[in-house]
Amino acid sequence: MKKRVLSGMQPSGKPHLGNYLGAMHQHIALQDEADCFYFIANYHALTTVRDGEKLRKMSYELALDYLALGLDPNKATFFLQSDVPEVTELTWILSTITNIGLIERAHAWKDALQKGKKNPSVGLFIYPILMAVDILIYSPDSVPVGQDQKQHVEIAADIAGTFNHLYGETFSIPAVDIREDVAVVPGTDGQKMSKSYNNTIEIFAPADELKKQVFSVKTDSADIRESKDPAECIPFQLYRQFASKEKTAEMESGLREGGLGYGTIKTQLFEELLDFFAEARARRLELEKQPDYVREVLKKGGEKARLIAQAKLDEVRTKVGLS
Ligand code: ADP
Ligand code: TRP
Repeated sequence: MKKRVLSGMQPSGKPHLGNYLGAMHQHIALQDEADCFYFIANYHALTTVRDGEKLRKMSYELALDYLALGLDPNKATFFLQSDVPEVTELTWILSTITNIGLIERAHAWKDALQKGKKNPSVGLFIYPILMAVDILIYSPDSVPVGQDQKQHVEIAADIAGTFNHLYGETFSIPAVDIREDVAVVPGTDGQKMSKSYNNTIEIFAPADELKKQVFSVKTDSADIRESKDPAECIPFQLYRQFASKEKTAEMESGLREGGLGYGTIKTQLFEELLDFFAEARARRLELEKQPDYVREVLKKGGEKARLIAQAKLDEVRTKVGLS
Protein backbone atom coordinates (compact mmCIF):
# COMPACT_ATOMS: atom_id res chain seq x y z
CA MET A 1 0.00 0.00 0.00
CA LYS A 2 1.12 3.54 -0.70
CA LYS A 3 2.34 5.59 2.19
CA ARG A 4 -0.12 8.32 3.27
CA VAL A 5 1.14 11.88 3.41
CA LEU A 6 -0.71 14.91 4.74
CA SER A 7 0.01 18.60 5.01
CA GLY A 8 -1.80 21.91 5.26
CA MET A 9 -1.09 25.53 4.48
CA GLN A 10 -2.74 28.59 5.92
CA PRO A 11 -4.35 31.03 3.49
CA SER A 12 -2.99 33.93 5.47
CA GLY A 13 -1.06 35.68 2.69
CA LYS A 14 0.54 35.19 -0.68
CA PRO A 15 2.79 32.12 -0.92
CA HIS A 16 6.49 32.84 -1.05
CA LEU A 17 9.76 31.11 -1.84
CA GLY A 18 9.98 29.77 1.72
CA ASN A 19 6.57 28.13 1.41
CA TYR A 20 7.51 26.74 -1.97
CA LEU A 21 10.89 25.31 -1.04
CA GLY A 22 9.98 24.27 2.49
CA ALA A 23 6.59 22.78 1.72
CA MET A 24 4.74 23.16 -1.59
CA HIS A 25 7.49 21.73 -3.77
CA GLN A 26 7.68 18.57 -1.65
CA HIS A 27 3.91 18.28 -1.56
CA ILE A 28 3.71 18.30 -5.31
CA ALA A 29 6.66 15.97 -5.80
CA LEU A 30 5.16 13.43 -3.41
CA GLN A 31 1.89 13.09 -5.28
CA ASP A 32 3.41 10.58 -7.69
CA GLU A 33 4.56 8.18 -5.02
CA ALA A 34 2.22 8.56 -2.05
CA ASP A 35 -1.46 8.82 -1.15
CA CYS A 36 -1.44 12.56 -0.53
CA PHE A 37 -3.87 14.76 1.37
CA TYR A 38 -3.32 18.51 1.19
CA PHE A 39 -5.63 21.13 2.56
CA ILE A 40 -6.05 24.85 2.93
CA ALA A 41 -6.02 25.56 6.65
CA ASN A 42 -8.77 28.18 6.76
CA TYR A 43 -9.84 27.35 10.34
CA HIS A 44 -6.28 28.13 11.38
CA ALA A 45 -6.26 31.36 9.38
CA LEU A 46 -9.23 32.60 11.43
CA THR A 47 -6.71 33.26 14.20
CA THR A 48 -5.30 36.12 12.12
CA VAL A 49 -7.75 37.03 9.34
CA ARG A 50 -10.82 38.84 10.64
CA ASP A 51 -12.63 39.62 7.40
CA GLY A 52 -14.92 37.00 5.85
CA GLU A 53 -14.64 38.19 2.27
CA LYS A 54 -10.88 38.36 2.57
CA LEU A 55 -10.55 34.86 4.02
CA ARG A 56 -12.76 33.40 1.27
CA LYS A 57 -10.69 35.14 -1.37
CA MET A 58 -7.34 34.16 0.10
CA SER A 59 -8.42 30.53 0.44
CA TYR A 60 -9.49 30.42 -3.18
CA GLU A 61 -6.30 32.15 -4.31
CA LEU A 62 -4.14 29.65 -2.46
CA ALA A 63 -6.01 26.84 -4.21
CA LEU A 64 -5.17 28.50 -7.53
CA ASP A 65 -1.53 28.79 -6.50
CA TYR A 66 -1.25 25.12 -5.60
CA LEU A 67 -2.95 23.95 -8.78
CA ALA A 68 -0.81 26.29 -10.88
CA LEU A 69 2.34 24.93 -9.27
CA GLY A 70 1.37 21.44 -10.36
CA LEU A 71 -0.82 19.91 -7.70
CA ASP A 72 -2.84 17.34 -9.60
CA PRO A 73 -6.28 16.69 -8.08
CA ASN A 74 -6.40 13.32 -9.85
CA LYS A 75 -3.39 12.25 -7.83
CA ALA A 76 -3.73 14.10 -4.52
CA THR A 77 -6.79 14.83 -2.39
CA PHE A 78 -6.97 18.61 -2.19
CA PHE A 79 -9.54 20.32 0.01
CA LEU A 80 -10.58 23.07 2.37
CA GLN A 81 -10.04 22.30 6.05
CA SER A 82 -13.51 23.66 6.87
CA ASP A 83 -15.20 21.18 4.52
CA VAL A 84 -14.40 18.61 7.19
CA PRO A 85 -16.11 20.09 10.26
CA GLU A 86 -15.41 16.85 12.15
CA VAL A 87 -11.98 18.29 12.96
CA THR A 88 -13.54 20.87 15.24
CA GLU A 89 -15.38 18.25 17.30
CA LEU A 90 -12.26 16.17 17.64
CA THR A 91 -10.35 19.31 18.64
CA TRP A 92 -12.67 19.69 21.60
CA ILE A 93 -12.32 16.05 22.58
CA LEU A 94 -8.52 16.08 22.33
CA SER A 95 -8.27 19.40 24.15
CA THR A 96 -9.77 17.69 27.20
CA ILE A 97 -6.83 15.27 27.41
CA THR A 98 -4.06 17.75 26.54
CA ASN A 99 -2.05 19.40 29.28
CA ILE A 100 -1.89 23.18 29.16
CA GLY A 101 1.87 22.90 29.74
CA LEU A 102 2.39 21.03 26.46
CA ILE A 103 0.70 23.80 24.49
CA GLU A 104 2.40 26.58 26.46
CA ARG A 105 5.74 25.25 25.28
CA ALA A 106 4.84 25.70 21.58
CA HIS A 107 7.37 28.05 19.95
CA ALA A 108 4.77 29.78 17.79
CA TRP A 109 2.74 30.64 20.87
CA LYS A 110 5.79 31.75 22.85
CA ASP A 111 6.95 33.89 19.90
CA ALA A 112 3.54 35.55 19.64
CA LEU A 113 3.69 36.47 23.33
CA GLN A 114 7.30 37.59 23.12
CA LYS A 115 6.59 39.78 20.10
CA GLY A 116 3.99 41.53 22.25
CA LYS A 117 0.91 40.10 20.52
CA LYS A 118 -2.00 42.09 21.95
CA ASN A 119 -4.94 40.15 23.36
CA PRO A 120 -3.95 36.73 22.02
CA SER A 121 -7.05 34.60 21.46
CA VAL A 122 -7.84 31.19 22.91
CA GLY A 123 -7.87 29.99 19.29
CA LEU A 124 -4.27 31.04 18.81
CA PHE A 125 -3.33 29.21 21.98
CA ILE A 126 -5.01 25.94 21.02
CA TYR A 127 -3.81 26.20 17.40
CA PRO A 128 -1.50 23.17 17.91
CA ILE A 129 -4.43 21.01 19.06
CA LEU A 130 -6.40 21.83 15.92
CA MET A 131 -3.29 21.06 13.90
CA ALA A 132 -2.81 17.78 15.78
CA VAL A 133 -6.37 16.84 14.86
CA ASP A 134 -5.80 17.77 11.20
CA ILE A 135 -3.07 15.21 11.22
CA LEU A 136 -4.43 12.46 13.47
CA ILE A 137 -7.88 12.30 11.91
CA TYR A 138 -6.38 11.09 8.60
CA SER A 139 -3.73 8.70 10.05
CA PRO A 140 -0.90 9.83 7.76
CA ASP A 141 2.48 8.11 7.87
CA SER A 142 4.31 11.37 7.40
CA VAL A 143 3.79 15.13 7.42
CA PRO A 144 6.03 17.16 5.07
CA VAL A 145 6.55 20.66 6.48
CA GLY A 146 9.26 23.27 7.02
CA GLN A 147 11.36 23.31 10.18
CA ASP A 148 9.09 25.81 11.94
CA GLN A 149 6.25 23.26 12.05
CA LYS A 150 8.33 20.41 13.45
CA GLN A 151 7.32 21.03 17.03
CA HIS A 152 3.64 21.12 16.10
CA VAL A 153 3.92 17.66 14.55
CA GLU A 154 5.69 16.45 17.68
CA ILE A 155 2.85 17.85 19.78
CA ALA A 156 0.44 15.87 17.58
CA ALA A 157 2.44 12.71 18.25
CA ASP A 158 2.39 13.46 21.96
CA ILE A 159 -1.40 13.97 22.00
CA ALA A 160 -1.90 10.76 20.00
CA GLY A 161 0.19 8.88 22.56
CA THR A 162 -1.85 10.26 25.46
CA PHE A 163 -5.15 9.32 23.84
CA ASN A 164 -3.94 5.83 22.93
CA HIS A 165 -2.74 5.35 26.49
CA LEU A 166 -6.09 6.38 27.95
CA TYR A 167 -8.46 4.73 25.48
CA GLY A 168 -6.45 2.10 23.63
CA GLU A 169 -4.76 2.14 20.24
CA THR A 170 -6.65 4.69 18.11
CA PHE A 171 -4.25 7.10 16.43
CA SER A 172 -1.11 6.28 14.50
CA ILE A 173 1.91 8.33 15.49
CA PRO A 174 2.85 10.70 12.64
CA ALA A 175 6.44 11.29 11.54
CA VAL A 176 7.63 14.72 10.47
CA ASP A 177 9.31 14.97 7.06
CA ILE A 178 11.67 17.93 6.65
CA ARG A 179 14.05 18.55 3.77
CA GLU A 180 17.10 19.76 5.58
CA ASP A 181 18.63 21.88 2.81
CA VAL A 182 15.54 24.09 2.64
CA ALA A 183 14.39 23.77 6.23
CA VAL A 184 14.63 27.52 6.80
CA VAL A 185 14.67 29.74 3.72
CA PRO A 186 15.91 33.25 4.56
CA GLY A 187 13.74 36.28 3.79
CA THR A 188 14.79 39.61 2.28
CA ASP A 189 15.95 40.77 5.73
CA GLY A 190 17.86 37.58 6.55
CA GLN A 191 15.33 36.28 9.11
CA LYS A 192 13.18 33.26 8.21
CA MET A 193 11.04 34.23 5.22
CA SER A 194 7.49 34.52 6.53
CA LYS A 195 4.18 36.14 5.62
CA SER A 196 4.17 37.58 9.12
CA TYR A 197 7.55 39.34 8.80
CA ASN A 198 7.00 41.37 5.66
CA ASN A 199 10.18 39.93 4.15
CA THR A 200 8.86 37.67 1.42
CA ILE A 201 9.53 37.10 -2.24
CA GLU A 202 6.18 36.02 -3.64
CA ILE A 203 6.01 33.24 -6.20
CA PHE A 204 3.27 34.89 -8.23
CA ALA A 205 4.04 38.58 -7.76
CA PRO A 206 3.84 40.60 -11.02
CA ALA A 207 7.30 40.88 -12.60
CA ASP A 208 7.94 44.49 -11.51
CA GLU A 209 6.89 43.70 -7.94
CA LEU A 210 8.99 40.52 -7.96
CA LYS A 211 11.99 42.53 -9.07
CA LYS A 212 11.46 45.00 -6.27
CA GLN A 213 11.26 42.19 -3.74
CA VAL A 214 14.42 40.55 -5.08
CA PHE A 215 16.31 43.84 -5.01
CA SER A 216 15.26 44.43 -1.41
CA VAL A 217 17.25 41.37 -0.27
CA LYS A 218 19.74 42.42 2.38
CA THR A 219 23.45 42.28 1.53
CA ASP A 220 26.53 43.64 3.27
CA SER A 221 28.49 46.63 2.04
CA ALA A 222 31.34 44.62 0.48
CA ASP A 223 32.89 46.24 -2.56
CA ILE A 224 32.34 44.60 -5.93
CA ARG A 225 36.01 43.51 -6.12
CA GLU A 226 36.06 41.85 -2.72
CA SER A 227 35.78 38.11 -2.24
CA LYS A 228 32.47 37.20 -0.62
CA ASP A 229 31.41 34.23 1.46
CA PRO A 230 28.66 32.38 -0.45
CA ALA A 231 27.22 31.02 2.81
CA GLU A 232 26.60 34.59 4.01
CA CYS A 233 25.19 35.88 0.73
CA ILE A 234 21.38 35.68 0.94
CA PRO A 235 20.66 36.28 -2.76
CA PHE A 236 23.07 33.46 -3.61
CA GLN A 237 21.45 31.16 -1.05
CA LEU A 238 18.13 31.76 -2.81
CA TYR A 239 19.64 31.52 -6.30
CA ARG A 240 21.15 28.09 -5.70
CA GLN A 241 17.71 26.64 -4.98
CA PHE A 242 16.49 27.48 -8.45
CA ALA A 243 19.49 27.65 -10.79
CA SER A 244 21.21 24.66 -12.42
CA LYS A 245 24.29 23.11 -10.77
CA GLU A 246 26.55 24.72 -13.38
CA LYS A 247 25.14 28.22 -12.94
CA THR A 248 25.29 27.81 -9.16
CA ALA A 249 28.93 26.73 -9.30
CA GLU A 250 29.74 29.66 -11.56
CA MET A 251 28.15 32.17 -9.21
CA GLU A 252 29.80 30.56 -6.23
CA SER A 253 33.29 30.85 -7.70
CA GLY A 254 32.50 34.41 -8.85
CA LEU A 255 31.67 35.29 -5.26
CA ARG A 256 34.84 33.73 -3.89
CA GLU A 257 37.08 35.30 -6.49
CA GLY A 258 35.59 38.79 -6.22
CA GLY A 259 34.45 40.97 -9.09
CA LEU A 260 30.85 39.88 -8.82
CA GLY A 261 28.56 42.60 -7.46
CA TYR A 262 25.30 42.17 -5.58
CA GLY A 263 23.35 43.99 -8.33
CA THR A 264 24.39 41.34 -10.86
CA ILE A 265 23.56 38.53 -8.47
CA LYS A 266 20.11 39.94 -7.80
CA THR A 267 19.42 40.43 -11.50
CA GLN A 268 20.37 36.82 -12.12
CA LEU A 269 18.19 35.66 -9.24
CA PHE A 270 15.25 37.64 -10.60
CA GLU A 271 15.69 36.16 -14.07
CA GLU A 272 16.07 32.67 -12.70
CA LEU A 273 12.84 33.02 -10.72
CA LEU A 274 10.90 34.27 -13.73
CA ASP A 275 12.21 31.36 -15.72
CA PHE A 276 11.66 28.73 -13.02
CA PHE A 277 8.05 29.74 -12.40
CA ALA A 278 7.16 30.69 -16.01
CA GLU A 279 4.99 27.64 -16.58
CA ALA A 280 3.21 27.97 -13.23
CA ARG A 281 2.54 31.65 -13.87
CA ALA A 282 0.99 30.86 -17.25
CA ARG A 283 -1.08 28.04 -15.79
CA ARG A 284 -2.33 30.32 -13.05
CA LEU A 285 -3.64 32.82 -15.58
CA GLU A 286 -5.55 29.99 -17.25
CA LEU A 287 -6.97 28.71 -13.97
CA GLU A 288 -8.16 32.19 -13.03
CA LYS A 289 -10.64 31.82 -15.87
CA GLN A 290 -12.03 28.58 -14.43
CA PRO A 291 -13.37 29.32 -10.94
CA ASP A 292 -16.00 26.58 -11.20
CA TYR A 293 -13.34 23.98 -11.90
CA VAL A 294 -11.29 25.09 -8.89
CA ARG A 295 -14.33 25.01 -6.59
CA GLU A 296 -15.32 21.58 -7.88
CA VAL A 297 -11.82 20.22 -7.18
CA LEU A 298 -12.01 21.42 -3.58
CA LYS A 299 -15.55 20.13 -3.10
CA LYS A 300 -14.70 16.65 -4.35
CA GLY A 301 -11.52 16.56 -2.29
CA GLY A 302 -13.48 17.62 0.78
CA GLU A 303 -16.00 14.83 0.30
CA LYS A 304 -13.29 12.22 0.08
CA ALA A 305 -11.39 13.55 3.10
CA ARG A 306 -14.58 13.82 5.11
CA LEU A 307 -15.37 10.11 4.81
CA ILE A 308 -12.05 9.25 6.40
CA ALA A 309 -12.48 11.87 9.12
CA GLN A 310 -16.01 10.71 9.94
CA ALA A 311 -14.87 7.13 10.39
CA LYS A 312 -12.09 8.17 12.77
CA LEU A 313 -14.35 10.51 14.73
CA ASP A 314 -16.98 7.74 15.08
CA GLU A 315 -14.32 5.48 16.53
CA VAL A 316 -13.30 8.18 19.00
CA ARG A 317 -16.88 9.05 19.99
CA THR A 318 -17.48 5.42 20.86
CA LYS A 319 -14.25 5.07 22.80
CA VAL A 320 -14.79 8.15 24.93
CA GLY A 321 -18.47 7.36 25.54
CA LEU A 322 -20.22 10.00 23.47
CA SER A 323 -21.99 7.46 21.34
P1 ADP B 1 4.48 31.74 7.00
O1 ADP B 1 5.54 31.68 8.05
O2 ADP B 1 4.92 32.50 5.83
O3 ADP B 1 3.14 32.21 7.55
P2 ADP B 1 3.26 29.18 7.03
O4 ADP B 1 3.38 29.12 8.52
O5 ADP B 1 1.90 29.34 6.43
O6 ADP B 1 4.25 30.28 6.48
O7 ADP B 1 3.95 27.88 6.44
C1 ADP B 1 3.46 27.07 5.39
C2 ADP B 1 4.49 25.99 5.12
O8 ADP B 1 5.67 26.58 4.57
C3 ADP B 1 4.93 25.25 6.38
O9 ADP B 1 5.15 23.88 6.08
C4 ADP B 1 6.21 25.93 6.74
O10 ADP B 1 7.08 25.11 7.47
C5 ADP B 1 6.80 26.28 5.38
N1 ADP B 1 7.63 27.48 5.47
C6 ADP B 1 7.22 28.73 5.74
N2 ADP B 1 8.25 29.59 5.72
C7 ADP B 1 9.35 28.86 5.44
C8 ADP B 1 10.74 29.18 5.29
N3 ADP B 1 11.17 30.42 5.39
N4 ADP B 1 11.58 28.17 5.00
C9 ADP B 1 11.15 26.90 4.86
N5 ADP B 1 9.86 26.54 4.99
C10 ADP B 1 8.96 27.50 5.28
N1 TRP C 1 0.28 25.26 10.95
C1 TRP C 1 0.68 24.99 9.61
C2 TRP C 1 1.46 26.20 9.07
O1 TRP C 1 1.27 27.31 9.51
C3 TRP C 1 -0.50 24.72 8.71
C4 TRP C 1 -1.17 23.47 9.10
C5 TRP C 1 -2.38 23.37 9.71
C6 TRP C 1 -0.66 22.15 8.95
N2 TRP C 1 -2.67 22.08 9.94
C7 TRP C 1 -1.65 21.30 9.48
C8 TRP C 1 0.53 21.62 8.42
C9 TRP C 1 -1.47 19.90 9.50
C10 TRP C 1 0.70 20.24 8.44
C11 TRP C 1 -0.30 19.38 8.98
O2 TRP C 1 2.23 26.03 8.20
